[in-house]
Amino acid sequence: MLDNLKANNRAWAEQKVANDPGFFSRLAHQQAPEYLWIGCSDSRVPANDIVGLDPGELFVHRNVANLAPPQDANYLSVLQFAVDVLKVKHILVVGHYGCGGVAAAVDGKRLGLVDHWLHPIREVHHDHRRELDAIVGKSERLDRLCELSVLRQVRNVASDVFVQDAWTRGQAIQVHGWVYSIANGLVTDLATTISGPADLD
Ligand code: CO
Repeated sequence: MLDNLKANNRAWAEQKVANDPGFFSRLAHQQAPEYLWIGCSDSRVPANDIVGLDPGELFVHRNVANLAPPQDANYLSVLQFAVDVLKVKHILVVGHYGCGGVAAAVDGKRLGLVDHWLHPIREVHHDHRRELDAIVGKSERLDRLCELSVLRQVRNVASDVFVQDAWTRGQAIQVHGWVYSIANGLVTDLATTISGPADLD
């Protein structure tokens, strides 16, 4: 079963060792990533590949529509471990244009449980309705909603008590908002980086 994937795996591991004989034995002892990536589950948005980082260099949390909901135990567990134990220096919230989750949040169709998951996007949509309604093209409107949702998630991360407490302790953490373009492979920095409580205000 899935022999092609197993063959790919063997080839990948051999290539890694050929380039760097100590690669896996080094990783087996510890991980010390400087970055936490909060991105979409979309198969076209492969976190490590996009930023050219190896195993061990990027701590990754992915969910549908790259959300950082303040009540989600999965996301919060990842965030606390990244901040308190790994002591990452940068947290990247990475949305992407053409996000199916963002589109599904506002298309009015019922899908089931995921409609609840996507509720925060409907809130962002509601809060920015005037700006969004003024955008003529549907895909342009959804792309702007992708950006606005990233901004909201950046705010969620930066206002979380784990991050706030880390800043109080003097730990240096920056929270960034990016959007990735599936069409050309490039990320855009939304220039919303938060480096401390003053930036959040
Ligand atoms: Co998506």
